[in-house]
Amino acid sequence: MKKIILIGYMGSGKSTIGKLVADSLQLPFIDLDLHIEDITQLTISEIFQDKGEIYFRKLEHTLLKELIEESQSFVLSLGGGTPCYANNHLLLQQPHVKSFYLKANINTLESRLKLEMNHRPLLNNVTNLKSFIGQHLFERSYFYNYAQHTVFVDNKSPITIAKEIIDLA
Ligand code: S3P
Repeated sequence: MKKIILIGYMGSGKSTIGKLVADSLQLPFIDLDLHIEDITQLTISEIFQDKGEIYFRKLEHTLLKELIEESQSFVLSLGGGTPCYANNHLLLQQPHVKSFYLKANINTLESRLKLEMNHRPLLNNVTNLKSFIGQHLFERSYFYNYAQHTVFVDNKSPITIAKEIIDLA
């Protein structure tokens, strides 16, 4: 059994790269946010708005735990905050889990996220995106650095990044 798990900040490319890795290794691909949307029949924005972030974080934790405990192999992309709540970073420290931190610098993230701020509940009311990302990344890096491997993603194509992961998996 092999579970390849991608972590990283919003906009780091977890879903795009995850799909490529899964296709190439012929493994099922799961995106944790889409899995949550499937189960609740609500969008992530609706969950944050109607039920609140704590509800979201609890559900995110329960579903991640379930996926890690089942015997199926897969490639799983987490949400940007997943490793940073409910000791989820420790759930990833298991022999059958290969974890990868997709590390992007602040400028890369800012240029990708500035076009999507309205769809992302955590960025809705942000006034200075660059300083928000800098601060948030600083707080979250502690958890991201629990990943077994760090893959630098700036200025690389999705295919190149996926190949790096496949070689290490
Ligand atoms: C979040 C990232 C989002 C989603 C939710 C919260 C975060 O996932 O889980 O909006 O806390 O960084 P992506 O990183 O896939 O956008």
